[in-house]
Amino acid sequence: MKTLQFPPDFLFGVATAAYQIEGAVAEDGRVPSHWDTFSHTPGKTWQGDTGDVACDHYHRYADDVKMMAELGVKSYRFSVAWPRIIPEPGQVNQKGLDFYRRLLDELDRHQITPAATIYHWDLPQWLADRGGWVNRDAVHYFADYADALFRHLGQRVPRWITHNEPWCTAFLGYGLGEHAPGHRDWREAVRASHHVLLSHGLAVRAFRAANLPGEIGITLNLNVVDAATPTPRDQEAARRADGFSNRWFLDPLFRGQYPEDMVRLFAPWVAMDTVVEPDDLSLISSPMDFLGVNYYSRSVVYDKPEERLLQVGHVEPPKDQITEMGWEIHPESLYRLLTRLQREYTALPLYITENGAAFPDQVSEDGAVHDPDRVRFLEQHFAAAHRFISEGGQLKGYYVWSLMDNFEWAFGYSKRFGIIYVDYPTQRRIWKDSARWYQALIRSQGS
Ligand code: FCB
Repeated sequence: MKTLQFPPDFLFGVATAAYQIEGAVAEDGRVPSHWDTFSHTPGKTWQGDTGDVACDHYHRYADDVKMMAELGVKSYRFSVAWPRIIPEPGQVNQKGLDFYRRLLDELDRHQITPAATIYHWDLPQWLADRGGWVNRDAVHYFADYADALFRHLGQRVPRWITHNEPWCTAFLGYGLGEHAPGHRDWREAVRASHHVLLSHGLAVRAFRAANLPGEIGITLNLNVVDAATPTPRDQEAARRADGFSNRWFLDPLFRGQYPEDMVRLFAPWVAMDTVVEPDDLSLISSPMDFLGVNYYSRSVVYDKPEERLLQVGHVEPPKDQITEMGWEIHPESLYRLLTRLQREYTALPLYITENGAAFPDQVSEDGAVHDPDRVRFLEQHFAAAHRFISEGGQLKGYYVWSLMDNFEWAFGYSKRFGIIYVDYPTQRRIWKDSARWYQALIRSQGS
């Protein structure tokens, strides 16, 4: 296969998140997050796995950055751990900031451009104890935290991502109970979603006020939803599922309003006019500089009246086209998603801030990790992104999830998304074939 040529300034990247890789949960003044609490609660994660040690990246960051340099990536997306920076309201922990300064130094040394996510789910427990994202006050705590990052690191980070996947923060955390804090209450979840979006708007405003050189945006997990059949019932089901996954976040961000159909659907749980205050939506829709897209899969849905909340059922994807997560492999939907975003929502530059796949990797007898499924997955998804760009689409970068295997939330260490394998008992990093494939793709640019 001829290697694809991307624009000269295209940001080939890799992504990670603090709680998934750092470990060192009690070091240098870090306080607990609600993910520490959740993962230490029996029954919440696979085999009780926690992020206590994870990839020990807190101590190995220099070697990990060297690995990125060998890969040849141009950019690294990581997240800052809120509980390292703000140990209690009003305090800023210098030692926490120093860790990220050291990381930024290392990235600088290798000319890797940082992209920092402000919130990738590790809410300080002190804020969880005050009601977390259900409490409107969280919005101000978040803005203060973001402001501290802008003040201390703002000159060094060219690209900020306020939130990673508000859908997961709100709906997986407070509605479905699969993520911290593990609540199952749609009244909480819908409120939380509004507060997360509002906190994004406040952070964008704080960023503009700080007059910094960089850019700011948000990362959404977006999903292509197809109806199982052309019947009006299934089409309507697809519309609801799309409203829930995509429009609930895209509409307020880009159109300054929540989608009417979803407001009606959520009304039995939350009357939005009791949650949304004047000016909230104009804050939420404050102009950003880019949109980050996390894309993994699509859904095929049908009308299922007995199903709670959305009355939607999911069609099982074909067994030979799924990842280890059970997610359908559907690269064409990445292309469809990107084109839809530009057609319906925004002319802003787009970044794929996450894309990747879990497969049951093993170290072979030759000491290597052969992951042909992941190589194929990445090849197909990069090709879909390339097609979008070649038709004039504004896609500026692509971050593979993930640099290395890590703590996959409720799935613990049982799911491996890395292009680099982590042998947890020794913390040895082993290149998978997909890492070599990525290195070759990046090297072949401009040639
Ligand atoms: C996304 C998360 C990321 C990782 C991948 C597999 O939803 O943002 O942290 O868990 O899924």
